[in-house]
Parts: sequence; structure tokens; C-alpha cells
Amino acid sequence: MIHSADHWENVYRSKNFDAVSWYAPHLGDSLRLIEQLCPDKTAAIVDVGGGESTLVDDLLHRHYLDLSVLDISAAAIDFTKRRLGAKAQQVNWHVGDITRYNFGGKKFDLWHDRAVFHFLTDPAARQAYVELVRGSVKPGGYVLMATFGPNGPLQCSGLDVVRYDDAKLHHEFGDGFQLMGSELNDHHTPMDTDQQFLYCWCRVNH
Ligand SMILES: C[S@@+](CC[C@H](N)C(=O)[O-])C[C@H]1O[C@@H](n2cnc3c(N)ncnc32)[C@H](O)[C@@H]1O
Repeated sequence: MIHSADHWENVYRSKNFDAVSWYAPHLGDSLRLIEQLCPDKTAAIVDVGGGESTLVDDLLHRHYLDLSVLDISAAAIDFTKRRLGAKAQQVNWHVGDITRYNFGGKKFDLWHDRAVFHFLTDPAARQAYVELVRGSVKPGGYVLMATFGPNGPLQCSGLDVVRYDDAKLHHEFGDGFQLMGSELNDHHTPMDTDQQFLYCWCRVNH
């Protein structure tokens, strides 16, 4: 099996930013929900598996002051930094595998993940991810997840995925997470197809 980091590095080195199925000029649903859940601009927000998405640009534009982006692909992080230019200095950047990462004691008010968790087909990797969320999100903070929904694709980027409805996703996280809301949205891909996404948000109680 190809190692995950190599897979993603190869994707970002070989494809244009707007030629991947998950590309959208703006992550409108993510932005709307982040602003609803965290109207306070001093909130610490992390975008896990941010890739080359413009979410961080749009959050900076809305004057969020404490932003972090992590991705397993150094190429994706470099691309996003170059796009932001001098503004990149206002963001905390992390390159690593989220199933074995350590944010060094940093605690977040909101954890955002669009289209990363659904690649974790190994239950042990999902458990490690949830443990990291538990240790990295402040009590009363939020986890905002976007995965493929029940009618979403079975694969993405040539990799198998797990599809979720809100109950199934909440079950992965467990009792310390209070399910606050969910919605199903269609993402229109650059290949002119639609993909069903589940957005699901939980409050962290611990
Ligand atoms: C489908 S893309 C989504 C990118 C971005 N969130 C978006 O919505 O445009 C999945 C992203 O997750 C990253 N990724 C995959 N596995 C990861 C892991 N184990 N740890 C951290 N990032 C990972 C990939 O490099 C890629 O940028």
C-alpha cells in the first residue's frame, strides 16, 4: 500500500489546485458554520487537512486572529503559504499526519475538517484522531466535520472512504461530544459531478 503522505504529496505536485474533485473557489458552507459557531474573532481555529483550500484566506479576510492549518502534504502547505504572501505569517502552519500529531499543548475553540476523516478506513486511526480532538479542543469548543454523506462517493483521489450520516459520525466520537447539528450539502466538482457531503458539528464536553 502506498504511504498516505506520498500519495498526497504526489497529488499536489501533479495537479493544479483547481483540478482536484474537492476544489471549490470558497468553502462557503464551512465559512458560514464557523462564523455561526465562533463569532468571536479571537477564537483559536484549526483547519485539519486544509490542503490548498481558500478557507484560511477567507477566515483571515474576516479578521480571525488565531488560525492554524495542518496538512500531511508539505507541497499543499507551501502552495497555500505562497498564495497568501505576507499574510501567511499570521497563520500557524503544521505539516504532519493527523492520526499521529501533537499540537504541543495548543488548545482550539474550533476544529474544522473537510474531507479528511472519511479517508480513515482503519478504526485504530479513527480512534487516534478522536483522541487528538479530545486533547486539543477546549471544553465548550466545537468540532465541525464534513465527510461524504450516505449517498456520497465510495472513493476519492483513488482511495476508499467511509461515508457517514450524523448518527454514525457522532458514534465515532462518543459521549464526550454533544451533537449540535448537521446538514447534507452537494458539492459540485470541477468534473461537473455532484458529491453529497455531511456537515456535522458537536460541542466538546469534558
Ligand atoms: C480531499 S482533500 C481536502 C482538502 C481541503 N480540506 C478542502 O476541503 O479543500 C484531503 C486533504 O487531507 C490531507 N490529508 C489526508 N490524510 C491526512 C492525514 N492523515 N493527516 C493530515 N492531512 C491529511 C490531504 O493532503 C488533503 O489535503
